[in-house]
Amino acid sequence: MARKLKSYTGFVLGLIFTAAGAHAGMIDKEGMAPWEICGLCHSLDGISKMSKFPILAGQKKSYLRRQLIDFKQGLRSNDGGQMAAIVDEFEISDIDQIVNYFAGLPSPVSQQDLRLGAKQEEKFQKGKLLFENGRLGVAACNSCHNPVHPTAPYLQAQHADYIRKQLRDFRRGDRANRRSAIMTVIAQKLSEDEVDQLAAYLQRSARAEVSAAH
Ligand code: HEC
Ligand code: HEC
Repeated sequence: MARKLKSYTGFVLGLIFTAAGAHAGMIDKEGMAPWEICGLCHSLDGISKMSKFPILAGQKKSYLRRQLIDFKQGLRSNDGGQMAAIVDEFEISDIDQIVNYFAGLPSPVSQQDLRLGAKQEEKFQKGKLLFENGRLGVAACNSCHNPVHPTAPYLQAQHADYIRKQLRDFRRGDRANRRSAIMTVIAQKLSEDEVDQLAAYLQRSARAEVSAAH
C-alpha cells in the first residue's frame, strides 16, 4: 500500500516537473518548499479551480493544522485517497510552514456580484437565513463559523460542491475525524434542500475581515 501511494505521488511530482520543462528523473524534492506540491490540486494561490479541491487561501491556521495532522494520521479519510497519497511528502515539522503559507494568502473573493435568477435568489436567501439565524433544532451556523471561533473554519466563498459533499460526508459518518462530532449531529438534522441552500449561499457570500489570531 505504502509503495503504491509513493508511486502515485511520484506521478504527481512528475506532472509538476514535466510542466516546468524538466525530466521527472531530475526531481530534487529537497529543494522544494513543502507547500509547492499542494498547488497541483489546491493551486499555488490557494484558490483551487476545481470544486473537488477545497479553497485553502486565508483559512484559519488552527483549522488547517488540525486537518493536516488528521490526514497524516489517517483520521480523516473522505478525500478519495488524494490527501492520503500526499501525506508522506511532508513531515509534521513542515506543517507550520505550510499552514502559514496558505493562511497568509489573500482570501477568495466570493461570486456575490453574479446576477441570480429568481429560483437561485430564493435558494440563496433561504441559505442565508439558516446560516445566520438557524431554525428550530439547528443552531445558527455563524455562531461558530465566524472569525473569532478557534476551531470552526471559514465557509464563505468556498466551492458549493465541496460544502455540499462535506455536509453529506458528516451526515453519513464518512468524515469522522476529531472535532467532527458536532457537525455530524448538525448535518443529520439538515434536509437535502437545506444542504443545497447553504452551499449556494456560502459560495456567494463574503468573509468577514480575517482575524490574524487563528
Ligand atoms: C492530488 C490532489 C491533492 C494534492 C496534491 C493535495 N491535496 Fe489537499 N485535498 C485534496 C482533496 C481531494 C481534499 C478533500 C476533499 C474532500 O474532503 O472531499 C483535500 C483536502 C485538503 C484540506 C482540508 C481542507 C478543508 O477545508 O477541510 C487541506 C487543509 C489540504 N487538503 C491541504 C493540502 C496540503 C497542505 C497539500 C500539500 C502538502 C495538499 N493538500 C495536497 C486533494 C489534494
Ligand atoms: C457548535 C459549533 C458549530 C456550529 C453551530 C456549526 N458548525 Fe460547522 N464546523 C464546526 C467545527 C468545529 C468544524 C471543524 C470540524 C473539524 O475540525 O473537522 C466544522 C466544519 C464544518 C464544515 C467543513 C468545512 C471544510 O472546510 O471542510 C462545514 C461545511 C460546516 N461545518 C458547515 C456548517 C453549517 C452549514 C452549519 C449550520 C447549519 C454549521 N456548520 C454549524 C462547528 C460548528
